[in-house]
Amino acid sequence: MARLRTAILISGRGSNMQALSEACAAPGFPAEIVRVIANRKDAAGLGIAAQAGVATRTIPHRDYPDRAAFDAALDAALRESGAELVCLAGFMRLLTAGFVEAWRDRMINIHPSLLPAFPGLDTHARALAAGVRFSGCTVHYVRHEMDTGPIIAQAAVPVRPEDDTGSLADRVLAAEHRLYPLALRLVAEGRARVAGERVVLAEAETPEVALLNPRG
Ligand code: GRF
Repeated sequence: MARLRTAILISGRGSNMQALSEACAAPGFPAEIVRVIANRKDAAGLGIAAQAGVATRTIPHRDYPDRAAFDAALDAALRESGAELVCLAGFMRLLTAGFVEAWRDRMINIHPSLLPAFPGLDTHARALAAGVRFSGCTVHYVRHEMDTGPIIAQAAVPVRPEDDTGSLADRVLAAEHRLYPLALRLVAEGRARVAGERVVLAEAETPEVALLNPRG
């Protein structure tokens, strides 16, 4: 089976990129990473990708006069790599409407909350301030408005009374590393199709149980 040619955009640490790249290295996984692109030279993920033998490229946004020019360079690099799908993984740049439209239903993102709750920055602090008993993460197709778009998959994690933003972020991040490869598999196998701005999943099992927090 042909594997889905996937590019990953990062800005920093790159732990989700690493999780995706490790998943793709497993025999039979339906996607391959053809390029990792960073908008910052100092993105730690670039070194991790290179060590894993993945082709990398840096396109510093500061080299371009405006967002449209940067996005045009990004688009050209993605097309040159032959990417069929783009995964945003901690990519900290707002993308123009034109770019988002050009990659409509071919670009996905991971966000560390149960969207549509807590889009944007400072997610974990806002979740703690709201007193929610569960947080989690979401992988979704990208639309122009930040952290919106048809939801592919979510993972829920409990919030503990003693949590601070660091401990909650760590718990959510561990779930992200499981969820993003799962979502990539669903997309690559054609099992996550957009219909009327919702994702219809094919051959995907729904868990039976309700989680209570606190435990009943
Ligand atoms: C993750 O929490 C992701 O959900 C958010 O930014 C963070 C990136 O972490 N969009 P990493 O670079 O993948 O380690």
